[in-house]
Amino acid sequence: MNAFTNLPSFEFDDKILMQGAEISRKLNQLRVEKFPPNARKTLRNFSMAEVAHYLGISPNNLKRLHLEGKGPSPLVSSGGRRHYTAEQMLELRFLLDRTGKAEAKKYVPHRKVGDKLQVISVVNFKGGSGKTTTAAHLAQHLALTGHRVLAIDLDPQASLSALFGFQPELDKNPSLYDAIRYDSERKSISDVILATNFPGLDIVPANLELQEYEYDTPLAMQTSAEGKRFFTRMGKALVDVDDRYDVVVVDCPPQLGYLTLTALTAATSVLITVHPQMLDLMSMSQFLLMLGNITKTIKKAGAEVRMDWLRYLITRFESTDVPQAQMVGFMQSMLAEEMLKSPMVKTTAISDAGLTKQTLYEVDRSNFTRGTYDRAIECMDEVNFEIQGLIHRAWGRL
Ligand SMILES: Nc1ncnc2c1ncn2[C@@H]1O[C@H](COP(=O)(O)OP(=O)(O)O)[C@@H](O)[C@H]1O
Ligand SMILES: [Mg+2]
Repeated sequence: MNAFTNLPSFEFDDKILMQGAEISRKLNQLRVEKFPPNARKTLRNFSMAEVAHYLGISPNNLKRLHLEGKGPSPLVSSGGRRHYTAEQMLELRFLLDRTGKAEAKKYVPHRKVGDKLQVISVVNFKGGSGKTTTAAHLAQHLALTGHRVLAIDLDPQASLSALFGFQPELDKNPSLYDAIRYDSERKSISDVILATNFPGLDIVPANLELQEYEYDTPLAMQTSAEGKRFFTRMGKALVDVDDRYDVVVVDCPPQLGYLTLTALTAATSVLITVHPQMLDLMSMSQFLLMLGNITKTIKKAGAEVRMDWLRYLITRFESTDVPQAQMVGFMQSMLAEEMLKSPMVKTTAISDAGLTKQTLYEVDRSNFTRGTYDRAIECMDEVNFEIQGLIHRAWGRL
């Protein structure tokens, strides 16, 4: 008993261990009920308007292809509405390029000989700045627009993996750790890649074991040449699958550790997500200063850290929030060139979709108020098409 308050004191470790175990057990129960282990996600079908939009042709042209009996047969609903699967959307791309004029082949946007694999690292110190949401939607958008994409979840907390239906607690996922570890257990990255419910999009999921890299690396730095050049490990791992992908999107953990540094050294470009509030901006400026200094140090150790582009993306933006608008103005006055023109707008469509571990590209429009969904997807597409433009420019396309 505590003499002053009459509250019984307790052993802290015993208590939190018990509570941790109880919460974890109940959560697992809930997950197993809602989402059985190894259940694979499926993907909805896409309307004619959506397909035309992602293909970059007019709805009338798409209709004509169908009426002329060319390409895959859409599914026709009882109301007469036509839908295509994501696989059919890819088939249509190949068809359009086969039948189009040679100089107009642009529907399959794969990189050409000499175009380097684009590796985009999504970073920020802060949890909740929208990294995982951005990485997931970008990777899916790139796949829907015909790119061959690899998403890498580098956060031991595995939120991106969970969003793709891979649950570290239930599914015993591999992770990038298997491909960058220093010992003899190391595997090829091709052994830790899993397919997702989006054709053209694979993932290297995450698990808690990734955290080992943060402990192994300082030791390896003292004992081996490999360790001293830790920053080359992801780039080297990616060589094995370089010819299979156009773009790699890396969802980084919310800390500036060895995982993040390794991802940044492998990156050809960087997206810094930032929620436009004073505290977030202060934390971001600290992040930039630390990152800049650490990068200088690893450059001295032989790292090459050259980027094709760097962009700041405003996340969870509320246009009616005056202080937020001021913060955006403040950032624009300093970083104009390097800010994405479109912000990621805060919307209940994203948070609601997240409740069932889905993205805007996965949820069914009919589950939402139309206006809400349409506005949300329009903003999301604007952000992603802008990033796609940067990727294509890095390949010398205009
Ligand atoms: N544009 C948005 N509108 C509404 N909610 C969002 C938006 N972006 C992110 N969120 C929500 O905010 C939370 C944190 O986002 P997340 O992408 O996981 O951040 P991080 O990966 O940086 O920690 C998630 O619950 C996500 O659903
Ligand atoms: Mg995250």
